[in-house]
Amino acid sequence: MLQIDVVTLFPRMFDAVTTSGVTGRALERRLYDLVLWNPRDFAVNAYRAIDDRPYGGGPGMVMMPEPLEKAIGAARQRQKSTGVVKPRVVHLTPQGRLLDNALVVELTQEQGLVMLAGRYEGVDERLAGRVFDDEVSIGDYVLSGGELAAMVVMDAVVRQLPGALGDAESASQDSFVNGLLDHPHYTRPESYEGAMVPPVLLSGNHAQITKWRLKQALGRTWQRRPDLLAKRSLSAAESVLLEEFKKEGS
Ligand code: ADE
Repeated sequence: MLQIDVVTLFPRMFDAVTTSGVTGRALERRLYDLVLWNPRDFAVNAYRAIDDRPYGGGPGMVMMPEPLEKAIGAARQRQKSTGVVKPRVVHLTPQGRLLDNALVVELTQEQGLVMLAGRYEGVDERLAGRVFDDEVSIGDYVLSGGELAAMVVMDAVVRQLPGALGDAESASQDSFVNGLLDHPHYTRPESYEGAMVPPVLLSGNHAQITKWRLKQALGRTWQRRPDLLAKRSLSAAESVLLEEFKKEGS
């Protein structure tokens, strides 16, 4: 079972992932384990402080290294006791490697993840070389803390675990798995405010449907995320479908 530990000043934020949806159900089914650690409980000075003013001046506070290292150490120790040989220790920070599907798949293969969700202006840099295997960002914007980012990582990883999704769903069908955006989806009614469901989807011809969906996925990726197409080579059949999409102008 995947072991996840998170070091955070706001453990209750994680109720969001433990009580609802795919991540909630997966926890109930014990597909993974989540343990939260509050660095406050590892504070070392008389005031139980976990942050202090930045050397060199400037706004905000910086998280002190010692309580964080102790909390991470406790998480590591716990993981070891469950049989995890070497957990991957990840610091969520806007300065990190951008999260993408390749990194999610990498993290899914780990036995254990220990994530640090920082607050304030950041954590003392001397911690970096001592404890982190990775620094990960979920996008080029600044959140008020690493918690939401850690939950994003958790959700993306947990949905990949065997059994996390229902029979009808499948992570292998997800967008990005083949380097493309998803194709469009339709359900009832057949006519909505004058807009019809594409006839091929009502045809019952599964080969045609699969082809249409791939064409739409290629076309939408070309329109919206040409950067993704540039990273991926197209097969001859895919090139034909994309050319058709461009001609159809849909
Ligand atoms: N902490 C604050 N902003 C973040 C981001 N964009 N990604 C990861 N962790 C963060």
